[in-house]
Amino acid sequence: MLVGFRTAAVTVVTSAVATTLLLGSLKDGAAQTKARYLPEYTADGQLLLPKNFHEWVYLGSPLTPNALNNGKAGFPEFHNVYIEPGSYEVYQKTGQFPEGTIFFKELQLTIPGENADGSRTEPSGRGYFPGPFNGADVTVKDSKRFADTNGWGYFNFNHHEPKAPMAKVKDKGECAYCHIAGAKKDEVWTQFYPLLDK
Ligand code: HEC
Repeated sequence: MLVGFRTAAVTVVTSAVATTLLLGSLKDGAAQTKARYLPEYTADGQLLLPKNFHEWVYLGSPLTPNALNNGKAGFPEFHNVYIEPGSYEVYQKTGQFPEGTIFFKELQLTIPGENADGSRTEPSGRGYFPGPFNGADVTVKDSKRFADTNGWGYFNFNHHEPKAPMAKVKDKGECAYCHIAGAKKDEVWTQFYPLLDK
């Protein structure tokens, strides 16, 4: 049985969809095949915790254990680094990080050790094995918004779990200064990521 009238279908574009763009073409004319996930901000300029970062392109895991840092490393965890896949695709073609590129560095504790240096012995050998996640640091390229820090914004989403749902941009003296001083390419430590260091 039909009810008197039906409401017109309304297409709702969520912010996540709105910020996922399919770019038409790149510098060299090749078509972009991957949708890009671009940074999302609150009205007062805080960065929202990026979505789906575990599905991004994995670059590597520097490890700075306590045992090699006077017993108290600033970051004793694995530093698992990812890049947003659509931005990676552009980088592969152009050799430049496009506006809106996001890097995600997730900290991951090692499983408690059974040896004095915090290591443990497992069937694959003696060493450090990944355990619980422990917060994250994020960088975003936006030359206008982050002009003060040479075009990259720096955000900390807690150094523990759960990760913060949003984060304020950090001052140059907290993060950017060190990346500017030591990172090989455009404030990114490409020297540690073979996929990017070409
Ligand atoms: C004293 C130097 C130093 C400071 C300060 C620093 N970083 Fe880094 N950062 C590094 C190094 C070295 C790496 C390379 C990977 C690693 O060793 O963890 C890195 C890697 C990163 C990455 C992965 C992408 C890349 O550029 O390689 C992100 C994201 C990041 N840092 C965010 C931050 C944020 C956010 C802050 C401030 C809260 C910060 N960093 C402060 C040295 C620094």
